[in-house]
Amino acid sequence: IEHGRPQRAEPWWRGERERLLALAAHGTPAYVYHLPTLRERARSLLDVEAIDRRYFAIKANPHPALLCALAAEGFGLECVSLGELEHVFETLPGLDPARVLFTPSFAPRAEYEAAFALGVTVTIDNVEALRNWPDVFRGRALWLRIDLGRGDGHHAKVVTGGAASKFGLPLSAFDAFVEHAHKLDARISGIHAHLGSGIVTPAHWREVYAELAGFADSVGTVDTIDIGGGLPIPYKPDAHPFDLAAWAAGLAEIKAAYPRYALAVEPGRYMVAECGVLLAHVTQVVEKQGIRRVGLDAGMNALMRPTLYDAYHGIHNLARIEEATDTAFDVVGPICESGDVFGAGRMLPAATAEGDVALVADAGAYGFVMANRYNLRALPREDVLE
Ligand code: LLP
Repeated sequence: IEHGRPQRAEPWWRGERERLLALAAHGTPAYVYHLPTLRERARSLLDVEAIDRRYFAIKANPHPALLCALAAEGFGLECVSLGELEHVFETLPGLDPARVLFTPSFAPRAEYEAAFALGVTVTIDNVEALRNWPDVFRGRALWLRIDLGRGDGHHAKVVTGGAASKFGLPLSAFDAFVEHAHKLDARISGIHAHLGSGIVTPAHWREVYAELAGFADSVGTVDTIDIGGGLPIPYKPDAHPFDLAAWAAGLAEIKAAYPRYALAVEPGRYMVAECGVLLAHVTQVVEKQGIRRVGLDAGMNALMRPTLYDAYHGIHNLARIEEATDTAFDVVGPICESGDVFGAGRMLPAATAEGDVALVADAGAYGFVMANRYNLRALPREDVLE
């Protein structure tokens, strides 16, 4: 045991093998979400006292059962499109719009109008919106998303700060934005930054809070500082879980230094990634010129993350979980693209065969919601375990 760093707990699915095999028998590919794990993640954030408001970034997984469970734990919901806004109000009738945050990117004017009509909190990240659509923003309370000039994240495609990124108001435009908002009698009530997804340094968020507090002080009307999402999960077997205690301690410290602001966070992945698995059946096992391949009935259409970001997901043969994992296989899908590979050189039981049920771990975030019907393959099913 390595001291001082959190250790990974046994994944929930090891204790749910029978139920998972029964669900797989109803048809694969299938995503399965474990609500107790979701609630456990929610409560771990409820325990962080420095945080005043928690929004779940529903883009990570908008499944109604998950949204209801998180709303019941007191979470607000962060939406990035009118579709997501409509979805949360349909899923949770009577939801207080004060618990909903709208943080779109390059959205059409009509979506901002619709968001204000719904009464949700609206974030904008450029001065052009104010200039071009004065009537939309006149007299409104607004949150401002700032680009702090740098980004971070598990892959270049999920870094959302710096000059190369389309997100956020650059610091050089800050004064112009504040002045223009003032002219429109719009009140900047929140300051926001989200620098990327899968950031592994716990100190990142306290630094963001400190920087944003400086801007908030200079605006004078701000009541809330939103330090974004981006919390990681340990996808790889040798990765440590995120050090939530170090994260919380940093936030407590910085909050004590700038106590006038409510502190908001908006995680997606951290809440839902580990509660979800993707089940698939093995279709064929083929050896070609020294490389053994296991084919699954789920491919890059069902889970894009490996192809899109070279993301790692653990892959296990649920049908042979007691057998030694002694043989290297490339695990591939049925899509007609060379990139349709879930993992190369993965250790699985030598006897892995057609009809076995494979489990792709940590697939609850950015899984089903990014699935598509490429090659006219069916969308995966979704199931929920209480
Ligand atoms: N807030 C904003 C403004 C965001 O853009 C995002 C994610 C989040 C919060 C939530 O980030 P999280 O806590 O989940 O890291 N499809 C990619 C991730 C894209 C993230 C997009 N924005 C993936 O599968 O890794």
